[in-house]
Amino acid sequence: MFNFTTTPPLSLYIHIPWCVRKCPYCDFNSHEAHGTLPERAYIEALIVDLEEALPAVWGRPVETVFIGGGTPSLFSPDSIGRLLDAVRARVPLVPCAEITLEANPGTVERERFAEFRSAGINRLSIGVQSFQPGLLDGIGRIHTAREAIRAAEGAHDAGLDNFNLDLMFGLPGQTRAQALDDLRTAIDLEPAHLSWYELTIEPNTWFYRHPPQLPDDDTLWELQAGGTELLAARGFMRYEVSAFARTERQCRHNLNYWRFGDYLGIGAGAHGKLTDTSRQTITRTTRQRHPQAYLEAAGTGACTSGRKALSAGDVLLEYAMNALRLDAGFDSDSFSTATGLPYAAMQPMVEAGIRDGLLSMKGGTVCTTARGQRYLDELLQYWLPETDTADGG
Ligand SMILES: C[S@@+](CC[C@H](N)C(=O)[O-])C[C@H]1O[C@@H](n2cnc3c(N)ncnc32)[C@H](O)[C@@H]1O
Ligand code: SF4
Repeated sequence: MFNFTTTPPLSLYIHIPWCVRKCPYCDFNSHEAHGTLPERAYIEALIVDLEEALPAVWGRPVETVFIGGGTPSLFSPDSIGRLLDAVRARVPLVPCAEITLEANPGTVERERFAEFRSAGINRLSIGVQSFQPGLLDGIGRIHTAREAIRAAEGAHDAGLDNFNLDLMFGLPGQTRAQALDDLRTAIDLEPAHLSWYELTIEPNTWFYRHPPQLPDDDTLWELQAGGTELLAARGFMRYEVSAFARTERQCRHNLNYWRFGDYLGIGAGAHGKLTDTSRQTITRTTRQRHPQAYLEAAGTGACTSGRKALSAGDVLLEYAMNALRLDAGFDSDSFSTATGLPYAAMQPMVEAGIRDGLLSMKGGTVCTTARGQRYLDELLQYWLPETDTADGG
């Protein structure tokens, strides 16, 4: 089925599953920290987890590391340093590997950024969401706008200029002017990268059970167009649905996901995707989700709770779900290198997308049109297996 001659680039994702407080919109694997965190035990568990996973990635260079959460900045720079030393001792990190830490304002004093940098972190992703005090309260954030600004200034002071700010729009009660003001404030802080997410209401969240009043789709679409224009005018080019960067400052780790690269995921609830060229398989893995279950599993060979070999159909859909988010689109060579499949397998869906004006083809590159970006879910329907309702099943 698959025909890989070489493996795709490899990244490492490390999950830290605790936060000070659970945000009402968040469905990430994050748990409120009660009392002292088992920081030392968790770092040990991550190292054991990595060691157990080594045979699956033996000898492969790791291009990027992302320590995400949860709130990884709750951990001390010493712990992060110990973790990164252990990573370096076990996998070949490429020179200039991108090593990102997610940091929440309100959990990290700015002086600590210099210590994280000494520990090996060379990129930060700071979760700001908004600079409007009322809106921050409304989405349950623990930090003030001032703390978010100080965090960005602290990143510069620590020499970590390569940092991202996360913002969200479409927040309950947010006006168009407020959303654009948030972007301007963020740009003035001179980040290298901005992630600008539309708030989505996810199952298993407080907002799902108590739905807030949100702007309608047309308002959001106009807002998004206005924001994208503003960002471009200030040097932040969009390269993915929600990601904007200065030249050469795209997030290499996320790009690897969107290009259907491989990643090893360690830590509670972490997902991984690995290609095996000798068996010609692509496998998705998941780790024990609950922090306590994960800690108990460490060292018993049971950190991995799920493993699924992907079918060609799975891969076509997953590739589309990722690559069609990228403004640069994809071509037949990048598709075949990442998936091990002939481009002919993708062609009928691409042709249907072009026919309906949701995709375009320029010089051999398939791109999502503006209409396709707006109706991405509809576009992805071409990749879903047809449901047969003839038998009433
Ligand atoms: C892994 S999450 C959390 C990072 C960090 N713990 C924080 O909250 O600052 C990364 C980003 O996803 C975005 N996000 C989380 N939940 C979301 C939702 N329901 N809709 C849109 N964006 C969301 C937020 O901007 C968040 O900063
Ligand atoms: S701080 Fe981040 S990871 Fe934690 S609950 Fe809030 S959005 Fe989720």
